[in-house]
Amino acid sequence: MKVDISFEAKSSSNYSVFIDSDKSLIFSGKVAIVTNPKVAGLHLKSLLEKLTSDELYIITIPDGEFYKNQESLDLILENLFNHKFNRGSTLIAFGGGVIGDMTGFAASLYQRGIDFVQIPTTLLSQVDASVGGKTGINNKFGKNLIGAFRQPQAVYIETEYLKTLPSREFGAGVAEIVKMAVTFDKDFFEWLENADLRSIEDLQLAIKKSVETKAWVVAQDEKEKGLRAVLNYGHTFAHVVENLTNYKRYLHGEAVSIGICMANDLAVRLDLLSTSQSQRVKDILVRYDLPTTFEITDVEAFYDHFSLDKKADDSKIKFILAKGLGDHQMRDDIDKEIVLSTLKEYSV
Ligand SMILES: NC(=O)c1ccc[n+]([C@@H]2O[C@H](COP(=O)([O-])OP(=O)(O)OC[C@H]3O[C@@H](n4cnc5c(N)ncnc54)[C@H](O)[C@@H]3O)[C@@H](O)[C@H]2O)c1
Ligand SMILES: [Zn+2]
Repeated sequence: MKVDISFEAKSSSNYSVFIDSDKSLIFSGKVAIVTNPKVAGLHLKSLLEKLTSDELYIITIPDGEFYKNQESLDLILENLFNHKFNRGSTLIAFGGGVIGDMTGFAASLYQRGIDFVQIPTTLLSQVDASVGGKTGINNKFGKNLIGAFRQPQAVYIETEYLKTLPSREFGAGVAEIVKMAVTFDKDFFEWLENADLRSIEDLQLAIKKSVETKAWVVAQDEKEKGLRAVLNYGHTFAHVVENLTNYKRYLHGEAVSIGICMANDLAVRLDLLSTSQSQRVKDILVRYDLPTTFEITDVEAFYDHFSLDKKADDSKIKFILAKGLGDHQMRDDIDKEIVLSTLKEYSV
């Protein structure tokens, strides 16, 4: 399976996403695979069996979001200098979204930009992070605040890698799949209701539909001036949940699942969504063991966290809401009282 991503104005940025194509990967010039010890231990051997290059290096970064930082970026760049990488060299990101974002950013910086390829190994990175060209690292001011838009040369998705993924990590990816279906594609949503993503055929199709959706959105709004922000559905609430739990209790996708439920409750209050539609979304999340609720101890404090979001450009809080199933509405004019009543449904 293949999905083509095209930015009409800049054909040099066009690329393809291959899904279970089991292609041989042939590169000329120097290549470095950036990965972490866990992914390398599980899957590097099988990747190397299908990869050919003139000169190959492996750069290993410790596992975890904590290491998506300047130090790891420097480590990647220093390796490239030490091995005299040049403009014709290629970086391969082999891991989840952490590795993908960091490798893409390193590729955008080294000698003002070299080629890079994404080989995502988590469901979340296969359906979301590896496509669309957002790259970056975290710093003490927040997540992903340093980075660049840099599209990869290609994305190679192999569902085979997901066989070793812990089930919570799998669920986290499902939350992002549900996000795309609810906001953009009614048919995809209805298909998801009856699908079993633990079966390979359904999983492949869900990945393809998600990548197509994201590609369609990104092609229209690469730099997130408008439509791309819809991909943050559930995230306004999720970021607060992640923040209040110190990024420890939930995986990002799990927090997104909670955030989707909260956003839907708000949409129900605003008559954008019916109670039964909201329940149908929840039913899918529950089937993949995703959390759908969170005990809010202080609704005012929760509300205040919305405006602490470092990326908020002004005082208005932007909510992405489901408008029925398969469509969305972006709103920055919602009465605080309506939001607080929604949050009160979650208060202890
Ligand atoms: N660029 C984007 O558009 C975008 C979109 C969404 C998320 N992100 C970023 O992606 C990151 C989250 O990505 P993630 O959820 O993939 O997390 P991750 O990269 O931390 O991977 C999750 C865990 O799974 C392990 N792992 C990876 N592949 C595995 C496999 N096949 N089998 C077993 N274990 C495996 C990893 O080593 C890690 O411990 C965040 O940093 C987030 O900011 C970026
Ligand atoms: Zn997300």
